Amino acid sequence: MTLNKAPHFSTKRLQLRYITEQDAEDIFYYAKNSNVARYSNYEPHKRIQDSYNFIRKCQALNIKDSLNPLAIVIQEKGKEKMIGTVGLFKGSLCGHNTLELGYALGEDWWGKGYVVEASQILINHAFKQTYTRRIQAVCVRENIGSFRVMEKLGMQREGILRKHVFKNDYYYDVYMYSLLKDEWDIFK
Ligand SMILES: CC(C)(COP(=O)(O)OP(=O)(O)OC[C@H]1O[C@@H](n2cnc3c(N)ncnc32)[C@H](O)[C@@H]1OP(=O)(O)O)[C@@H](O)C(=O)NCCC(=O)NCCS
Repeated sequence: MTLNKAPHFSTKRLQLRYITEQDAEDIFYYAKNSNVARYSNYEPHKRIQDSYNFIRKCQALNIKDSLNPLAIVIQEKGKEKMIGTVGLFKGSLCGHNTLELGYALGEDWWGKGYVVEASQILINHAFKQTYTRRIQAVCVRENIGSFRVMEKLGMQREGILRKHVFKNDYYYDVYMYSLLKDEWDIFK
């Protein structure tokens, strides 16, 4: 998905923007936590250098996939705090005019609806401003918080990809969820 300029979206509670080197400490703070990495496709960061490497990867991705990933930023004690990421990207399971939604949030901010709010902004943008017809998302069956986010976004569970992900010596079943443009009425 291309954009003419760097994306910047905001609501009363949060902003979405590109990740920068200044975010390294905030990323390290949440990404070293094994609870955040447990069902994600990365290992917990062990040193700040891992967070700088992650930033470089994100910056390379932003060049070809402009909305993947974006930083979720809030104001905390009068300062900007990056608390996680959200993105829309062309995943390997995506068909025509389809994008995949991905997200991760620091544990301190779980349960406050931040990921739903951030995802709504991107979904709305994709359906209103691009040719996207379908947005899909996947998570392992055990990741209840993640599939609750998908359900709160109005996505439907389509099925299970059996033993689709191998992590930590275990094959996980994966739920596939999707939302079609016609079903997207939150912002209408
Ligand atoms: C999953 C995640 C994105 C949820 O984001 P969030 O902003 O905290 O989501 P919400 O505040 O909307 O809350 C999620 C819902 O799941 C529920 N939930 C979360 N963890 C749960 C658990 N272990 N068991 C039962 N319910 C759980 C919450 O109660 C809430 O449900 P409700 O709104 O019906 O009360 C966040 O926990 C996270 O980033 N986790 C680590 C990274 C990750 O797993 N990313 C997704 C990979 S697919």
